[in-house]
Amino acid sequence: MTTPGHPPRALLHGASGQIGRRVLADLRARGWRVVALSREERPAMAGVEWRRGVLPDSAGPGDGFDAIISCGPLDLFSHWYARTPTGDARVVAFGSTSVHVKADSSDPGERDVAARLRLAETRLADAAPARGAAATLLRPTLVYGAGSDRNLTRIAALARRHGFFILPHDARGLRQPVHVDDLAAAAVAALSLRGPGLRAYDLPGGETLAYREMVARVLAALQPPPRLLVLPGPVFALAARLARVTGLHDAGAAVLARMRQDLAFDAGPAREALGYAPRPFLPDAAMFDAPPR
Ligand SMILES: NC(=O)c1ccc[n+]([C@@H]2O[C@H](COP(=O)([O-])OP(=O)(O)OC[C@H]3O[C@@H](n4cnc5c(N)ncnc54)[C@H](OP(=O)(O)O)[C@@H]3O)[C@@H](O)[C@H]2O)c1
Repeated sequence: MTTPGHPPRALLHGASGQIGRRVLADLRARGWRVVALSREERPAMAGVEWRRGVLPDSAGPGDGFDAIISCGPLDLFSHWYARTPTGDARVVAFGSTSVHVKADSSDPGERDVAARLRLAETRLADAAPARGAAATLLRPTLVYGAGSDRNLTRIAALARRHGFFILPHDARGLRQPVHVDDLAAAAVAALSLRGPGLRAYDLPGGETLAYREMVARVLAALQPPPRLLVLPGPVFALAARLARVTGLHDAGAAVLARMRQDLAFDAGPAREALGYAPRPFLPDAAMFDAPPR
């Protein structure tokens, strides 16, 4: 599709999100021309045409691009892709390791998320080879670094507000927080993969650590550092129930139980195929500040 003498063109779904913004910056830095999608009007930028659109039905056409990248909801994107002519444009789409983790959750809503992710992956795996398109599915673990994630930034916000954060003593499940910039680098690297069909890679962060240690590092990065209170299991359960009733947090039982569960994935295949080299988890306070609009 690339016309000799012309910069390559990408259609970027979810360009206003925490991962999408970094992917957009990387594409611009590499000289791509980008049509960026969002549900709201966005200010113009050099090399970027913002298009308003809502997935899956009114996100506009998909032909005339060298690459189509999805940094928004995978299930909606997969419906749009399956119905929209795109030629053999390469596809890079973000999914989630939740497809592995939530399939057996005690929470029906979480099982539904996993099932929708799995169906979306299958939809892409069916549609891409029929067009002769190379497609790459990237499944991040717990994302941080842009100040708009719903995990560590939320923990930092609660801890900043109250001056402390509570955890049960056995919150020792393994985690691999992954920085948004490492995900953007993986997406750009995936644009060079060739050959029709879908390849999928889990994208964990560069360090595996216990949930308690992960939270302790977030708190230590804040100024002044809030205290981490480690409570016996039953005391924590009572405190969490009280906090939920009074609206201090909205984490469900499955989320709280998962603090004890290991969620660790292998970066080896992504390292080999994409040169993926995620950084260790060394947060600073700015990573938990809200981004500019
Ligand atoms: N955050 C995590 O910890 C995490 C972990 C694993 C995987 N992921 C996956 O990675 C991808 C990106 O995540 P993220 O955290 O960067 O997301 P995010 O910050 O919430 O951004 C979502 C993006 O999708 C767009 N969007 C949402 N609904 C849309 C719709 N109906 N039509 C068109 N655009 C829509 C939003 O655009 P507007 O709101 O501007 O319209 C925004 O640009 C998602 O597939 C997510 O599941 C995230």
